[in-house]
Amino acid sequence: MGKVYLPQSSEVLKAAQAETLDRPRRSYSIAARGLFASMDLIYGRQGSLRKYRVLEIVARVPYQAWENVAYVAITHTSSTPEFAREIHDRVVGTRAQQDNEQWHLLILEEMLHASGHRRTLVLDRLVPQIAAFVYYQISWLLYTMSPGWSYRLNADFEDHAEHEYMEWVRDRPELDSQPWVSVFVDDYGRHETVGDLFRSIGNDERIHKEESEEMMAAARFGDRSPK
Ligand SMILES: [Fe+2]
Ligand SMILES: [Fe+2]
Repeated sequence: MGKVYLPQSSEVLKAAQAETLDRPRRSYSIAARGLFASMDLIYGRQGSLRKYRVLEIVARVPYQAWENVAYVAITHTSSTPEFAREIHDRVVGTRAQQDNEQWHLLILEEMLHASGHRRTLVLDRLVPQIAAFVYYQISWLLYTMSPGWSYRLNADFEDHAEHEYMEWVRDRPELDSQPWVSVFVDDYGRHETVGDLFRSIGNDERIHKEESEEMMAAARFGDRSPK
């Protein structure tokens, strides 16, 4: 079932960051490593708002792919309402994650805009759209073959994002003295500084990862629904 993304205090977020920095990354699959290497090649190994914006565009699509497959499954299982209901609950869960990713994306868009970044056709429009399209197809295909494979790819993706954001804040102490001003405060939750905002986004990515890890263990419709 979907988690609620309540804003956490600065202390909680700093503790979450320390945990992430202490924890090794997951052992990424070949598909995930290929995606991360491509992103590094195109946008540079260093993190940047521009690169993270692309990651957030791509981050939403597995949830859309799962939702698509789940609605088809509901159609085919509606003669057994309890089973269909369980699938619906999964859709609700993935929708919460998808919306959460959507706020990440809009917040990054807002920051990029404020920084005066001028979008280019290839790197800011075409590449993200192609990456999202390809990633959607892979997520959809894996999910129809074996849902656990798709959840594993997403867990890798989310783990990578979690570490990227937490390391980004660690390497930029000045972010802790920059106040976060945004039109999305009421939607996403209030954070005093840009440092805490990124810690919060990193913490969200960890929640997404943990949900996918739970789902890997109960991947097929009809198996235990994650709480
Ligand atoms: Fe995200
Ligand atoms: Fe995420």
